[in-house]
Amino acid sequence: MKRGTTIYLYELAWILPSVAIPVGMLVALLVTAFGVHIHLPGMVGRVNPNRVDSTPPFDHPGVVQLGPGRYQVNMIAQLWSFNPNELRVPEGSEVTFLITSRDVVHGFFIPRTATNIMVLPGQIARITAHFNKAGNYPFLCHEYCGLLHHAMAGQIVVEPQHANSTVGAQSDGHARREPRGSST
Ligand code: CUA
Repeated sequence: MKRGTTIYLYELAWILPSVAIPVGMLVALLVTAFGVHIHLPGMVGRVNPNRVDSTPPFDHPGVVQLGPGRYQVNMIAQLWSFNPNELRVPEGSEVTFLITSRDVVHGFFIPRTATNIMVLPGQIARITAHFNKAGNYPFLCHEYCGLLHHAMAGQIVVEPQHANSTVGAQSDGHARREPRGSST
């Protein structure tokens, strides 16, 4: 084989993968996004940050039971706390968090789970977590938000199935809703 041909084949052997790999990644992205419907957790709605306290569902911060083993947590992030900052669900629960901020950008992160989302004022963030083992799951703000950022934390108490008597515990005086029996 002539030397020129060898160099050409050698270059081609490198050029082809450099085209094929990005094309393969693009295809994988399109299939997971539109075929398998895997998306980043993100904004699901808007809310006026000045009227968070009177806007459903944030007018009732806390745990709402949606159905057997399914809960929704309405949560407000603020300087420098979460409301509620402690919540209780039974072991085996699927918990969907709806979170907004009333002031600046915060974060919501539950270590040891895949729960990690930014919380922006004016936007409603939604993320779902599964708690299959009883125990305490601390959560914290992981977007720097000022002086007491490091103190902005709370915990989820996942109770063993039998000791499930205090679902919906609250940190403040707000009334709580527990539409038990609803299956939606
Ligand atoms: Cu809120 Cu850092």
